[in-house]
Amino acid sequence: MKFTRVCFSNIGKMLDFYSQFNPSPLSIKQFIDFGLSACERKSFIFLRKELPVRLANIMKEIHLLPENLLRMPSVGIVNNMYVTSFQEIIEFEKVEVSDNTLDKFCQALVKIRNRHTDIVQTMAQGILELKDSHDVDAQTENSIQYFLDRFYMSRISIRMLINQHTLLFGGVLNGHNRHIGCIDPHCDVISVVKDAYENARFLCDQYYMASPDLVVKQFNSTAVNSGIKIIYVPSHLYHMLFELFKNSMRAVMEHCGVDADNYPPLEVTVIQGKEDICVKMSDRGGGIPRSQMDYLFKYMYSTAPQPSKSDAHTVPLAGYGYGLPLSRLYARYFHGDLVLLSCEGFGTDAVVYLKALSNEANELLPIFNKTSSKFYRTSLPTADWSSQCGNSMATRQLTMGHNQGHRLPNGLRANHC
Ligand SMILES: Nc1ncnc2c1ncn2[C@@H]1O[C@H](COP(=O)(O)OP(=O)(O)OP(=O)(O)O)[C@@H](O)[C@H]1O
Ligand SMILES: [Mg+2]
Repeated sequence: MKFTRVCFSNIGKMLDFYSQFNPSPLSIKQFIDFGLSACERKSFIFLRKELPVRLANIMKEIHLLPENLLRMPSVGIVNNMYVTSFQEIIEFEKVEVSDNTLDKFCQALVKIRNRHTDIVQTMAQGILELKDSHDVDAQTENSIQYFLDRFYMSRISIRMLINQHTLLFGGVLNGHNRHIGCIDPHCDVISVVKDAYENARFLCDQYYMASPDLVVKQFNSTAVNSGIKIIYVPSHLYHMLFELFKNSMRAVMEHCGVDADNYPPLEVTVIQGKEDICVKMSDRGGGIPRSQMDYLFKYMYSTAPQPSKSDAHTVPLAGYGYGLPLSRLYARYFHGDLVLLSCEGFGTDAVVYLKALSNEANELLPIFNKTSSKFYRTSLPTADWSSQCGNSMATRQLTMGHNQGHRLPNGLRANHC
């Protein structure tokens, strides 16, 4: 579809216009090549179309959320932020490209990034507001799950574009000479593992006065003795591993008890394959009952006690159960994955898959179209297999309730990415 310069009088029409275009996914290789040529003008011309397209694609989905969720104050705040940011970007739609424009564009991007810093928490707050005020039925929950995966993925991608442009052209050094924007062309996977472990251990020690050790192994089928390097965004990898470490540490400490003499170590194996680099984290934290496996990646699922409302403002996301679903989004963003396999009574293996080749590591982006719109309106199919529990009560308690147990405080859940 040809991109024409159309002057629309209101935001709704602009949204309709930009949402007709599919986002253009980039591969890590393209990000790198683009960063090496470092042409600010080219980047500006690409982003002044691509950012409104990505924003509009997800904003159209916000409007399709269930009515009762849309009425929640925090969801209103999120929506208004998107409208403001969308307006600020389309102001550049027709301006002449000059040094002054490029400077202003960079400033606008920084402003937008800052505005959206807390959006994950604000949206999570909106879901809690809904839970507090309404009975959430299975269909609404299904729509929310579907939406949040797409919404947060869109946000990861928009931040990636903004970070690349502002780091390359914003005149602020990011302290890593070899980095291209936020991508490390020689990201040492084991260093990131150790870094994430140390920070999670700090929290674990604070909370439990002890923590399990770490054992790291590597298997490189191509070059045995050299470290395993990947072209990747280290902050994304760190985010996933930090969340996995916190989960494994909590499981081990709860399973063994705080008075135990010693704790089984966490074992991390980094494996270089042809297609993927895998990071496998194994704990002996007692595992997860099979009946709960389906809920691990649900945004509202946590076995940690729900924090009080005042905590929700000071400690972002504490107890929302966002660790696994968000980490899986980071893994999937460049067509990797995150899976958990558990043996109840023993322990859990979590595997992060990352694409080994940067030209295969393409962005995975939500597209607003008839299929996605239909999702929000289609009722859940009636089950055509009998269920184990006969009624839906057990399921509701698992997905919406918070069981007892301790959790690591989330003081380090900063917005690294
Ligand atoms: N390694 C593990 N061993 C045992 N249970 C686990 C493990 N990893 C995850 N879980 C279970 O999965 C639930 C969801 O994990 P998730 O990381 O998404 O949320 P959380 O840890 O409860 O809260 P948050 O990560 O947002 O602080 C946990 O509450 C826990 O019950
Ligand atoms: Mg967690």
